[in-house]
Amino acid sequence: MTDTLQRIAIVGAGIMGRGIAQTALAAGQEVALCDVSEAALDNAREAIDGGLQRLDDKGRLEAGTAEAVLARLAVTTRLADLADAPVIIEAAPESPELKEGIFRELDTVAPEAILASNTSSLSLTRLADVTGRPERVVGMHFFNPVPVMPLVEVIRARQTADHVVETVEALARALGKTPVRIGDSPGFAVNRILIPMINEAAFVVEEGVATAEAVDDAMRLGANHPIGPLALADMVGIDVVVAVMKILQDGLDEAKYQPCPLLRRLMDEGHLGRKTGRGFCEYPAEGG
Ligand code: CAA
Repeated sequence: MTDTLQRIAIVGAGIMGRGIAQTALAAGQEVALCDVSEAALDNAREAIDGGLQRLDDKGRLEAGTAEAVLARLAVTTRLADLADAPVIIEAAPESPELKEGIFRELDTVAPEAILASNTSSLSLTRLADVTGRPERVVGMHFFNPVPVMPLVEVIRARQTADHVVETVEALARALGKTPVRIGDSPGFAVNRILIPMINEAAFVVEEGVATAEAVDDAMRLGANHPIGPLALADMVGIDVVVAVMKILQDGLDEAKYQPCPLLRRLMDEGHLGRKTGRGFCEYPAEGG
């Protein structure tokens, strides 16, 4: 158990993977971060460095100086290099085929590890089934921005062993997060509630009931949300919102979870939110 709390491995150097990596480094852990793309790893290292520097400047980095903490980050393009981590957290894009491929390979190259997925809505039970150790597969769903949001949804697949749930709950606490146990159902709890709200906000704009700005102002001022639902769509990624809606649609109720056509149009035009520099709003400095 002690070892579990000292180092982790992460697959996927996108927004979520790098956020988990930064959080684990700031908590004093050694982190191995794997991605197929060298460029994604370079970007992640730069972003993590910036995040750690900011914490250090604020006097909030307890695990050492930003340089010393960053020195505990190892990056690699080979899943086999993650083999000695007790827990591997997969944070790859939300594609069942991609995640299943990663889990099959991890099952071979890292026979001892607990395999956790940061999937935001896919079935853990199905993912566990592609491995030869389904009792050691579990969901650890973090929230964006990971360094700030305190929740980890811990998703138990039908096959997950008790000690595995307990280990990842302890890991979440070691990362400064609060674990909450949620059943393996499409969208789990937060996304099943949050993403249809974003989708409905897009329908309000699509139908000309209000502008995107008015919708966001209304929800900030009328419902005390920290940011409006459409600014949140831009933060989470419009592609992610559409992907989660499709999963809810397939798994729960065809009609109720139709993705809003406006979201699909933005996606087809490549306007995915902050990460592409434009979604409902424009983010000139962040795109590219
Ligand atoms: N990384 C690290 N720290 C960040 C950050 C980031 N990306 N963004 C903001 N912060 C920090 C800031 O540095 C600041 O820290 P200090 O207080 O120490 O100075 C703090 O957060 C507050 O930031 P700001 O004052 O700039 O802005 P804010 O008050 O609007 O807070 C926010 C930013 C915390 C993101 C807030 O807008 C918020 O809570 N938004 C909603 C987030 C949310 O709902 N997330 C869930 C998305 S759904 C999801 O992730 C699941 C999925 O599967 C799709």
